[in-house]
Amino acid sequence: FKVPKAVNEPVNSYEPNSDAVKSLLGKYKEMNDQEPIEVPMYIGSKEVTTENKKPLTSPHDHQKVLGHYNYGEKKHVEEAIAAAMNAKEKWANLPWEERASIFLKAADLISGPYRDKINAATMLGQSKNVYQTEIDAACETADFFRFNVQYMSELYEEQPESSPGVWNRLEWRPLEGFVLAITPFNFTAIAANLPSAPAMLGNVVVWKPAESQIYSANVIMEVFKEAGVPAGVINMVTTGGSNIGDVVFKHKDFTGLHFTGSTGVFRSLWKTIANNIENYKSYPRIVGETGGKDFIMVHPSAKALEVATAIARGAFEFQGQKCSAASRAYIPNNLWEDVKTQVLEQVNSFKIGSPEDTTNFVTAVINEKAFDSIAEYIDYAKESKDAEIIAGGNYDKSEGYFIDPTIIVTTDPKFKTMVEEIFGPVITIYVYDEDKFEDTMTLLDETSEYALTGSIISQDRYAINLALEKLRDSAGNFYINDKPTGAVVGQQPFGGARGSGTNDKAGAKLNLLRWVSARTIKETF
Ligand code: NAD
Ligand code: ALA
Repeated sequence: FKVPKAVNEPVNSYEPNSDAVKSLLGKYKEMNDQEPIEVPMYIGSKEVTTENKKPLTSPHDHQKVLGHYNYGEKKHVEEAIAAAMNAKEKWANLPWEERASIFLKAADLISGPYRDKINAATMLGQSKNVYQTEIDAACETADFFRFNVQYMSELYEEQPESSPGVWNRLEWRPLEGFVLAITPFNFTAIAANLPSAPAMLGNVVVWKPAESQIYSANVIMEVFKEAGVPAGVINMVTTGGSNIGDVVFKHKDFTGLHFTGSTGVFRSLWKTIANNIENYKSYPRIVGETGGKDFIMVHPSAKALEVATAIARGAFEFQGQKCSAASRAYIPNNLWEDVKTQVLEQVNSFKIGSPEDTTNFVTAVINEKAFDSIAEYIDYAKESKDAEIIAGGNYDKSEGYFIDPTIIVTTDPKFKTMVEEIFGPVITIYVYDEDKFEDTMTLLDETSEYALTGSIISQDRYAINLALEKLRDSAGNFYINDKPTGAVVGQQPFGGARGSGTNDKAGAKLNLLRWVSARTIKETF
């Protein structure tokens, strides 16, 4: 029995005036113009509402109310756990091929009838432009489902040697208990992957999406339902972190955390789990993809245009609100004037505005909290004698949370914006003496609290080789002659180490292995 070999979902280029772009923008308009929707919690077979309704708004038009979600209480978390545990035995005992079919169907729903809806929801709720949403919400979501199904089938095929009279086998059981998935605002695909990867392997899940992603999370739940994920297998609870933590981390059946979000939150969850370790039946699996301070390291042999393009696209696509976004660059002084001219030319040509205008390169950042925090970093640079802002620096939240793509140049390689995660359209550049390539990489490594993505740009193979060696632990995804973004499921398994996570590589067999607990069976004849 073989599952279909996974292939990446083709990315629609949304040419101007194409039928595809008209259809997507039509859906966007329809959803924008409709009456505000109500997003329930999905607990077992019930769609649960509460008296506590909170608005869901558009980042590029923050007065626009798209709908409301129902804020859950602790009792809803308890109910979600009960629903999950209730669904567990039947789901775990379903032949894995049946589980595979459900998620292959979910992929086909996303790539077909739900494509416009999931894309439009991500544009409206998270302000991604059509190209960004297509890569995230449509393609990466379908890719996660299809590749995980393939990896799951390969995993189940892995069996030990047997000998005459003895048959050894591995039974890939799901974990005993329920998994908690906590997802960030910035990728619809991550919200789809974190609950579905453990579920695919027979686990049951309580899922808490980020508040700013609930509008598209609702579409994901619709897809799960239509694909045939049984009630109780994935339960979506929309509430605050403390309501989740207070209930889940005290529960004896808590068996795993699948988290993506900031380093600080992940560390605090890990501590809470550790403090409760004696409560649990099993040692919980803890998988986290967290923050980044992703770099571009440039060798004196590099081509200035390649460097400029890597900076402009790596830092400012997706408004810099990508864990992989380039946020610091090290450029040798022999190239700097050329790079500066070319990067300014590119960045100054970027249009900023609402996502439904397909000519806008940069849209709004996610919410007021993110806007204020990014603006604070920009102001810090404005006021510092160690930094100069050479592009952008302006921001405006009167209608939407818009921040100009901003380039800071600093003389201090440990400058605040050079080492802290900002998570917005801001990159800081340090210009180094061209004779100090190796020393600069030592400095880069020493200032890498995170280790998510990074790239080396160079025409010199020895320099590339040296960078591979010296920056070995500074990035879980390392790019040669490219920007440090754009990992594709099935092609560049994604994840980082140090403060960036447990490096269990999303959308890879490595990740799936965390959601199974193998039983070895020896049978003697
Ligand atoms: P966040 O840490 O603020 O929130 C992530 C999730 O955790 C949300 O659902 C949030 O509600 C929840 N949360 C917050 N406090 C909690 C608590 N005490 N208990 C339980 N849940 C809690 O992150 P964000 O702003 O949504 O996302 C941005 C961050 O995510 C950045 O740091 C980015 O680098 C990171 N990220 C990393 C990757 C990766 O693959 N490494 C991918 C995407 C995003
Ligand atoms: N897959 C996304 C990227 O690498 C996070 O940019």
